[in-house]
Amino acid sequence: MEGGGFYNRHSAMQAAGISLLLEDWETTIRQTLLGEGPIVIADYGSSQGRNSMAPIRIAIEELRARAGKERPIQIVHTDLPSNDFVALFTALAEDRGSYMNAASNVFPSAIGRSYFEPILPPNSVDLGWNSWTVHWLSGPVIYAADHVFGGMSKLPSVQAEVESRSSGDWRNFLRCRSFELKRGARLLSAFVGRTEGGTGWNWIGDNFWAAIQDVGRDGLLSEDEQLRMTLHTNSRTIDDIRAPFGPGNSYEGLRIVKAEMLTVPDHNWPKYQATRDSKALGLAHANMLRAISGPALAKVLEGRTDKDLVLDAIFTRITERLSINPQIHEGKLASVVLEKI
Ligand SMILES: C[S@@+](CC[C@H](N)C(=O)[O-])C[C@H]1O[C@@H](n2cnc3c(N)ncnc32)[C@H](O)[C@@H]1O
Repeated sequence: MEGGGFYNRHSAMQAAGISLLLEDWETTIRQTLLGEGPIVIADYGSSQGRNSMAPIRIAIEELRARAGKERPIQIVHTDLPSNDFVALFTALAEDRGSYMNAASNVFPSAIGRSYFEPILPPNSVDLGWNSWTVHWLSGPVIYAADHVFGGMSKLPSVQAEVESRSSGDWRNFLRCRSFELKRGARLLSAFVGRTEGGTGWNWIGDNFWAAIQDVGRDGLLSEDEQLRMTLHTNSRTIDDIRAPFGPGNSYEGLRIVKAEMLTVPDHNWPKYQATRDSKALGLAHANMLRAISGPALAKVLEGRTDKDLVLDAIFTRITERLSINPQIHEGKLASVVLEKI
């Protein structure tokens, strides 16, 4: 994610999705089995932390009610080593919404390591939160010559490779979490979803790709750079989520408590309807895209002295394209609650 706290400032779309999860999250917290000793909450793929504040604060409140004031609660935020952990710790210390405000016996920490391997000791986690991350795929990027989002490519060979990687990643993620969760512990995981009607990302995604091609036509990006500007993501259907579990609803010691597909409301749309300011709408979406994709695109331009100029050109072009034809953006969010059995 874009550093310097940029993701924290431009992830209101993700926050809108998270607010849809909070009712199930409260139920999950109430139903997770608590063992003895400090309570461990893992936040998998925390990024810069702002969007974790609400769910973790709710977890602290609910668990306090169950386990008492004296019980230490350890929060472990995890992300890739490249994550902006400075922004995370700054948000914990300074944000008005930080769950650390007025908290006692709460101990936050962070781990910089991919969750596609075990990152916490076996049987150590009481409760897990994971929002908006597992659509990012592992391993070498599967390049798509026809789209910026790998999972939105229409090329059959790309689609097949992406689906296979996505299915392997989901199984691997589940296996690693099962290793870490205590028996009876629960984990809520939510990521970009897909129904027969699609992901809801076509307007934004297609214009993102068209903007990259525009900048290519302006002579600022080579064919090869355009190809390598593939965001290594995919979406999953409810069937994809359930696939490893089979008819017995069990996989690697986990069971699905609940799986559902949500539609994230467009938090920008009411303001646009009131103001008809299509430039502001386009810019809000462009900033959201820059927050999630900036570092991946910058990597393609490594070594170029005009890197920032080219990136600015891409996001200016996206803003323009989205402003010309404003549409409501309502993406699909797949949510699954799991229990270690
Ligand atoms: C869009 S952000 C989501 C942040 C936050 N959870 C939220 O809901 O707003 C996706 C995060 O997933 C992280 N991520 C992607 N792949 C990961 C992996 N294999 N292991 C750990 N974190 C990963 C990224 O670094 C990024 O910080």
